[in-house]
Amino acid sequence: MSHRVWKRSVVGALTLGILFMVAGEISAQRANPGDSVPTMRSLMRALASAFPMSLHQEDFRHPANRRAILLALEVLQENSEALESHGSDDSSSFHFLRKTLARDTRSAADSYREGRFEVARVFLHQMTENCFACHTRLPGQANKTFGKQFMEDMELESLTLDNRARIEVITRRFDDALTTYEAMLQLPVWEEPLLGFDGAFENYLKVSMRVRNDYEHPVDVLTSFGARNDIPRYMTQPVRDWVVALNKLQSTNYPEDKLEHARRLIQEGQTRKLFPGDRQGTVHFVAASSVLHQFVQSANATKDELAEAYFLLGVVESHISSTSWVSETEFFLENSIRLNPTATFAPRAYAVLEEFVLMQHGALPAIPPEILDYLEELKGLIDR
Ligand code: HEC
Repeated sequence: MSHRVWKRSVVGALTLGILFMVAGEISAQRANPGDSVPTMRSLMRALASAFPMSLHQEDFRHPANRRAILLALEVLQENSEALESHGSDDSSSFHFLRKTLARDTRSAADSYREGRFEVARVFLHQMTENCFACHTRLPGQANKTFGKQFMEDMELESLTLDNRARIEVITRRFDDALTTYEAMLQLPVWEEPLLGFDGAFENYLKVSMRVRNDYEHPVDVLTSFGARNDIPRYMTQPVRDWVVALNKLQSTNYPEDKLEHARRLIQEGQTRKLFPGDRQGTVHFVAASSVLHQFVQSANATKDELAEAYFLLGVVESHISSTSWVSETEFFLENSIRLNPTATFAPRAYAVLEEFVLMQHGALPAIPPEILDYLEELKGLIDR
């Protein structure tokens, strides 16, 4: 785990934790396979119950709290595992997030049981990235009942705005999350450390564009941000470009064919991107991911079309993933190769995936044999 991830998770936890100071009595509600709402609510309650105590290292490991914490972690694990095996949507595009959520909750519970409290804390905090990634993928209904009550019970004031927005997305209070992101863009720039381009803009665009399908409102908000002169140029410049891009996307007629639509968006995004860390293409990549996520959900896509959609999703995700904890790049590329190993783009998909996997594991001698076997297997499918 990189230092940055660790640091962010701890800082995030400290602020996030305060929020969960609800009289957190978790119901050890058992998951009902095929019905995700009760499962989601149980996840939320359990998370809320464990978080306050994860705020301070001493509380989290204190013998008096251990039973309650372990129970919460077990409820999280149980409900995540139920979601993993009986997810009510049968699209494989969600499988990775269900699997990683189950893995993270399992690791949290196991570590805690074994007395590795710090490790358990990190897993507990990072698992929320799975919730966020899933909730911001497709156009979605806001939660009007459960989430509202839940948020009202919480002490939101003590949170950094970034964490507050994250919780609002997790409870599916999307409009509240947008309001929070927008408030964040008005702060003095150094007041909100995460405004330093640490995923906040990407997350704002994901909620606006993918969940709300709203390209208009971000234009106003980002125009104001881009006009500020108290902010370094490296931050305002891409934002100004996004405004131009958002306007252009609304006035351009893209092809009906969704894959062609996505290919064009990606190409336009890539032309804007001059160097690896350049964010100028972000709006195009988020727009492309939105088209593609909806496409892979549609019932009438053929296997070959799906293979290409996953290839493109892998490419796009590598540009817009705002976290190193939950990155779906590898999963999308693997899906693409398995669906159509003879496609013209399959060798390219493999090359990107191989680089991605090798980079994650560092120097070659350090790569576990099962990872090398996995790469061999995928390469074999293409070369066959
Ligand atoms: C694989 C995708 C996925 C993951 C992962 C996921 N969710 Fe959800 N969640 C959904 C979907 C889809 C809905 C909307 C369900 C509906 O309205 O039918 C939802 C709804 C919810 C709701 C609203 C329930 C209600 O009352 O309507 C809450 C709260 C929630 N999720 C919390 C969480 C938490 C907490 C996590 C992580 C620990 C999480 N979710 C992880 C997909 C996911």
